[in-house]
Amino acid sequence: MTQKKENKISKPYGKLEKSVILIGMMGAGKSSIGKMLAAQIGARFVDSDTEIEKAAKMTIPEIFELHGEAFFRDGEKRVFNRLLEPPPAIIAAGGGAFAHAPTREIILMSGYSVWLKVNRETLIRRVSKRPEKRPLLAQGDIENTITRLMNERYPIYAEADIVVKSDDGRRSETVKVISEILINHGILTKSDET
Ligand code: S3P
Repeated sequence: MTQKKENKISKPYGKLEKSVILIGMMGAGKSSIGKMLAAQIGARFVDSDTEIEKAAKMTIPEIFELHGEAFFRDGEKRVFNRLLEPPPAIIAAGGGAFAHAPTREIILMSGYSVWLKVNRETLIRRVSKRPEKRPLLAQGDIENTITRLMNERYPIYAEADIVVKSDDGRRSETVKVISEILINHGILTKSDET
């Protein structure tokens, strides 16, 4: 097989100057795009949901069920405080992190936020595959919940440093667009070696 790995890019980048936080709705692809982006630029990748689960030694549905959303949001804020310490990383944020004012403040102060904006139909299709993973989708109709959260959160997500549209089937393109933005904004410094 002569197939070349397309996303194995030869070190075109230098240093990440601050952490990049991918925000946006559940199902926006923050983790998968974040991982691809981190691999491409040679940065550390962290997922805030995974970090909360590790710290609490429980799954997110368990945290919500046992302690409620307010407790989760508080843990999420503490995790962001820690994750935003140097060295910089690519961070995938849970969908509600940036919508929670104390966490948003930390993100806006210490990191560079990228809103991955995905159309409603794609979000619904993606989250409908495993709704049990996401406690906010557990009660009521998924479409209504997503629409309500979009209405509530979009004006807040708009405070992110940059918005990147990321609809279906274009993940590698999205990664490329984000890398270019990071370079143009001085967040990712290009390596001198050619
Ligand atoms: C949430 C999104 C989830 C997770 C939790 C709450 C939200 O993360 O943090 O279930 O409030 O939108 P993903 O966006 O990674 O699904």
